Amino acid sequence: MTELHGRAEELLGRELERFEREHPRSGELARPASGSLLAGVPMHWMLRWPGAYPVYAAEAAGARFRDVDGIEYVDFCLGDTGAMTGHSPEPVVHAVAEQAARGITLMLPSEEALWVGEELTRRFGLPRWQFALTATDANRFALRLARRITGRPKVLVFNWCYHGTVDETFATLRDGRVVEREGNLGPPVALDATTRVVEWNDADALRRELAHGDVACVLAEPALTNIGIVHPQPGFHDSLRAATRETGTLLIIDETHTLCAGPGGYTSAHGLEPDLLTVGKAIGSGIPSAAYGFSAEVANRVEAAIDRDESDVGGVGGTLAANVLSLAAVRATLEHVLTEEAFTQMIALGERFEQGVKGVIDERDLPWHVTRLGCRVEYLFRRERTVTGSDAAAGGDLLLDRLIHLYALNRGILLTPFHNMALMSPATSEGDVDRHTEVFGEIAGELTGG
Ligand SMILES: Cc1ncc(COP(=O)(O)O)c(C=O)c1O
Repeated sequence: MTELHGRAEELLGRELERFEREHPRSGELARPASGSLLAGVPMHWMLRWPGAYPVYAAEAAGARFRDVDGIEYVDFCLGDTGAMTGHSPEPVVHAVAEQAARGITLMLPSEEALWVGEELTRRFGLPRWQFALTATDANRFALRLARRITGRPKVLVFNWCYHGTVDETFATLRDGRVVEREGNLGPPVALDATTRVVEWNDADALRRELAHGDVACVLAEPALTNIGIVHPQPGFHDSLRAATRETGTLLIIDETHTLCAGPGGYTSAHGLEPDLLTVGKAIGSGIPSAAYGFSAEVANRVEAAIDRDESDVGGVGGTLAANVLSLAAVRATLEHVLTEEAFTQMIALGERFEQGVKGVIDERDLPWHVTRLGCRVEYLFRRERTVTGSDAAAGGDLLLDRLIHLYALNRGILLTPFHNMALMSPATSEGDVDRHTEVFGEIAGELTGG
């Protein structure tokens, strides 16, 4: 154990005590919760929060929320991107309330669907769209359709990717073999039956795996965001597009997180040309909604494959998908909240956050680094930037993660529980960012004994 880790252990004990002292009401609610809720939480990922129990939320607005103990927080987690819009933005609250009073779900289209389809085309460039309720579902449906129209069984993903709870994507490389990721609960089949895996930025491995001719599609975030941020190296996207085209493999770009790069995500900011594109989480300000888009060629192939009389049992879609409430929320979000101007402001705040963290790391000479994609910033506990998911995974540090999250939480700052991610919303202020820099400086000082 390094000196830094020894100090971290001590600080963690102190911070855990402080957490319990200052969050008695959350504690009172957490105790009986194990009677009625599996694992004592309404969704088991909430076990990842760093205290003895999660704080219970009372209310949220903009970039802040208050817990049941009356403590106010600056929220950089923002529902792990679901609330990248800021919590409950006024135009969306208004549109949702209006729509809820006029119908919620009908299995019929509304005019909003047309507006949203056209706006998604304007932003991302793909001409045709379908809707789902979660990004997980958008990815699942995109994979199914890719398999259907190519007639190929497999999917290729990058090592340490995350695309939602999609069976095929919970694969990783161990000694060069495709195996299931640790923690994967109840996979239906061995992962090497469905999935090929290569390291991000490894164009040679990509070509080698696609050469088998059995891969329907590559599903990729345009930069990995779920194991820290791992940017593509120059030329990697060109290689990816060329290799997929040469082998008749479809390219699905998942913009669920990388929407942080701008109004049309990374795809528009960097001129990517995917065959399909998926996006979810923030597009409805957190009202369950997601979309998947098709190039004209892929759309034609999919339309030719759909049997009208059997279209309700094709394994794609859902009763509540494309409901009128979701689409009203997506329209209000795209029209009034996640606008060009909002992104300009959010990205400037991301730069400020990055500079603040970098300043502390440099000043303390910590063996860490910070990366940014648009308005998403992440710090990782290794000195150099990472090139692959495996590099990034090796830079993870559960103890430091837990300590920094708890230390920040105890000082009114919420970071995403799964990694050290901070996201800027249109409601985030420079003062919020500077507060984080101050707290990050304090923990760095305590860890280095200065
Ligand atoms: C890139 C990416 N795609 C898809 C998803 C799935 O989103 P959801 O859990 O809302 O279905 C996630 C979730 O973190 C994600 O990071």
